[in-house]
Amino acid sequence: MYKLIAFDAYGTLFDVYSVGQLAEAIYPAKGKQLTELWRERQIEYTRLVTISDPNPTGSQYYLSFWEITARALRYSCKHFGLLLSPENEKKLMSQYAKLAAFTESKGVLKGIQAAGIKSAILSNGNQQMLTTVVAANQLTPYLDKIVSVEDVRQFKTAPQTYGLLLDQFQVAKQEVLFVSSNAWDVVGAGWFGFDTFWVNRQALPFEEIGLQPTYEASALIDLLQKIA
Ligand code: LAC
Repeated sequence: MYKLIAFDAYGTLFDVYSVGQLAEAIYPAKGKQLTELWRERQIEYTRLVTISDPNPTGSQYYLSFWEITARALRYSCKHFGLLLSPENEKKLMSQYAKLAAFTESKGVLKGIQAAGIKSAILSNGNQQMLTTVVAANQLTPYLDKIVSVEDVRQFKTAPQTYGLLLDQFQVAKQEVLFVSSNAWDVVGAGWFGFDTFWVNRQALPFEEIGLQPTYEASALIDLLQKIA
């Protein structure tokens, strides 16, 4: 029986699909490529920051995830020779601030609460962007805490980011189930010592390194069966 279920945010509880749609509207026929490179660069930059200075008290290269996301967008537009006007940057970035939750997210969080288990977000996102997107989707009452890596100025998969959950909830590693749609995040959390639930919505193969996820499902809602 788990005492805490912790969720990744982007792509796991919140659907980034609308960002792709907007990108396609602004840059017809280029939206998909742009959003793919944008996401890839966003994660690449978080890794550069953390690997280049893995100091437990924070990386000297730390930038908020909001800032990293904006810089990754600028790079990606330049890469494809697309003009990013200040208005379009603002539009694309504000889409991130108001992403819709997957329809199943609220039911899952409610189910966890009803089972008497604590729930949290653990995300690369900074506290402000997370608080905003959670509130915009009326999920605040169903989460015990929103934990941001901002507190350690490092990004996942640095062990101290996952360790934030142990400090904030006074739980042992074995009492935590970590949920993510990102296979690399499942690898990081598994190496840290958490049980993991991989939401594999796109029927992708799992990574070829790391521990296999403890659970795998095509939808988040299946999580409730695992904790019943
Ligand atoms: C997060 C990103 C990695 O929420 O999805 O941490």
